[in-house]
Order: sequence, then C-alpha cells, then structure tokens
Amino acid sequence: MSETEDKLRHALEEREKLGSLRELRVSPGLADFCSNDYLGFSRAETLREMIAEEVRKHPESKSGSTGSRLISGNSSYCEELESFIAGFHGSQSGLIFNSGYDANLGLFSSVPQRNDTILYDKLVHASIRDGIRLSHARAFSFEHNDVEDLERRIKSAGSSVYVAVESVYSMDGDCAPLSEMAKLCRAYGANLIVDEAHATGVFGRKGEGLAAELGLTRDVFARVHTFGKALGTHGAVVLGSETLRSYLINFARSFIYTTALPFHSLAAIRCAYEYLLADQESMERLAERVALFKRNLTDGVRARIIESQSAIQCVVVPGNAEVKSFAHQIQVAGYDVRPIMHPTVPAGSERLRVCLHAFNTEEEILGLTNKLGMLT
Ligand SMILES: Cc1ncc(COP(=O)(O)O)c(C=O)c1O
Repeated sequence: MSETEDKLRHALEEREKLGSLRELRVSPGLADFCSNDYLGFSRAETLREMIAEEVRKHPESKSGSTGSRLISGNSSYCEELESFIAGFHGSQSGLIFNSGYDANLGLFSSVPQRNDTILYDKLVHASIRDGIRLSHARAFSFEHNDVEDLERRIKSAGSSVYVAVESVYSMDGDCAPLSEMAKLCRAYGANLIVDEAHATGVFGRKGEGLAAELGLTRDVFARVHTFGKALGTHGAVVLGSETLRSYLINFARSFIYTTALPFHSLAAIRCAYEYLLADQESMERLAERVALFKRNLTDGVRARIIESQSAIQCVVVPGNAEVKSFAHQIQVAGYDVRPIMHPTVPAGSERLRVCLHAFNTEEEILGLTNKLGMLT
C-alpha cells in the first residue's frame, strides 16, 4: 500500500469513526421524500413526450454540442432559450451554465474583484462558497438570515459589496428575508445575489421564484435558477443585465472552459418551462402536500421542525448516530427520508430532511407523519 493510499484510507477511517462516511446508494424505490423533484417533472410522462417531440422537430440537432459555447457549442436554439427563460423570470438577460454548481462557481469567482467584499449568509450552498474561494475579493459570513448582522457588516465593508443568499436554504428549507435584505442593499448600494435553486417552480405566481413573488426582480443584481430540481431536468441560468451576461461570457471560467449542454438537454429545459406554464396544478398540489404534512405532525415533532414554507421540511434529531438510526427505521417502514449529518450541518442540529412533492399521496404523507411521531 503506497503512502498516498494510506493517507486516503486514514481520512476515510476518520469519517467512519464520526459516523459520517458518505457512500453511494442506488435509490431503493421507497416512497420518495428525499429528491428535489418537487413537482414530479422528472417522472412526468407528458413532459417526456414533449421533449421527444421537440427533439423530433429538430432532425438537424446533434447528440453532443461538440464544444464550448465560444467555439462550436453555441446555437440560436440556446440563445433563444436564454431569452425565453429571462423573459419568464422578468430579467433582462440570462446565461445558461451546465449546472447550478458551475453557475455559482463562475459567477462568484469572476464578478467580485480584488478589494471588493462578499458578504454571504453562513448557510449558503457549497457551490457559492467554492466560487467565493476562487475569487480575489474579501469575504465574510453573516449570521443566518440576520438582517442586523448583515447591516453591521455592510457598514464596515468597502465600496463594492456583494451579498450572497439563497431564497430557500437547501439544508433548512427556510426562506431568506429577501424584502428586508433588498431594502438594505438598496440603501447601501450593495449588489444582492440570490440563489433560487429550491424556489424555482415552487414560489412565484408561475414558479418564477421568490424574488419575483416579492416583486424584487429589479432590486437583485443576479439570480441563479437551477433546472435539476422542480424543473426535473438539468443545468442552470444566471439572470441579470446584458452587461453581466457579456461579462460572464468573457470571464466566468466554468462557462468558458467546458463543453456546452447538448441539444437534448436544451430541449428538455425548454419543454420543462413550457410544461410549468401549462401545468399550474402541480404547484398547487405541492403547496397542499406541504400543508398536509405540517398539519399532521404531532406536537412533539412540530417542536423539532425548522420553520419553513418551502417543500423542504426538517426535523431536528441531534447526533449522527441518532439521526441515522431514526432515518433507518423510517426507511424500513417504506419512506425514503435521508439523515443530514454533521459536518454537513452543525453538530447538535443533525436532522431528517423531508422533501415533499406534488406526487406524494395523502396516504404516504399521513404514514410518514405517523412514523415521525415515534420520536416523542
Ligand atoms: C442552493 C443550491 N444552489 C446550487 C446547487 C447546485 O445546483 P446543481 O445541482 O444544478 O449543480 C444546489 C444543489 O445541488 C443547491 O441546493
């Protein structure tokens, strides 16, 4: 065994000791309470047929995009799609990235410059943190959803300030106080950047996201919407001004140095948006399912719930071993709920993360809330 292999094995053993070793599993086919497929689009037969039809309508399309957008991978189809998506979300322009991870990496690593300041909520997604790590700007975190702490930090920051938040936090499910934050950013001339990954298709009259629902589209410097969650496909878009789009095309390395999405993916994204426009029932059904879940919690479980209006509802079960064992009992009963452990979340706030979907049946939801009641 080489020295390098020894080091790797040691790191894995340390993880195992902490009870936080990650392992890949094939989905066991239980009732889905863990995926990001909030509206059930990834499994919708109608959407699948729409995508097949869109591909048939473009016999000239290739299986692969053949290169980066700046070389051979661009198409008028992709540019039209970007305009269509920007229009849907009420933005001047949009630039598609291969994933939400790439979008955040490209945006945060390239836009804030040396001597600028990035203030980020301490719970923002790893993709934002990684983008910030690649940036030359100074970066400080502020307390989660704490507008006063944010104001203190904006006051002591320099001239060019970027504020990074998620509209719905992926590990807690709660929403950022976007209106207050937008007001603050306006008052101090800071640039607000909102990751709408878990709000796309969930908030807004037609699923445009939380900034749109709150009438804040003009107050936000950039928004990131991902397609791999409620839209059931893959990829992401950065929305903002035409200038921002041109800047990203020139400076965002995760956009420049990668093969563009193939036609099939673009067709799937286009159809997912059209399906969202045509099928408002899924959004309504999702809201009903969330309400049903919350209504049926026992008082004991309700006391452990992290307050959330989104499709992500978390029940705090402190301790890696405890949350893992409880998740296992629930899985054995047929419900695919995953434990979120330390170090993904702070020690003591380990949790069961329940993702609700428009397709979860009432019976499944009542069965799950019943099982969760074992906690008390
Ligand atoms: C808040 C947030 N932003 C960005 C991403 C990354 O998006 P993608 O999965 O498309 O890379 C995720 C999840 O994956 C997320 O939860």
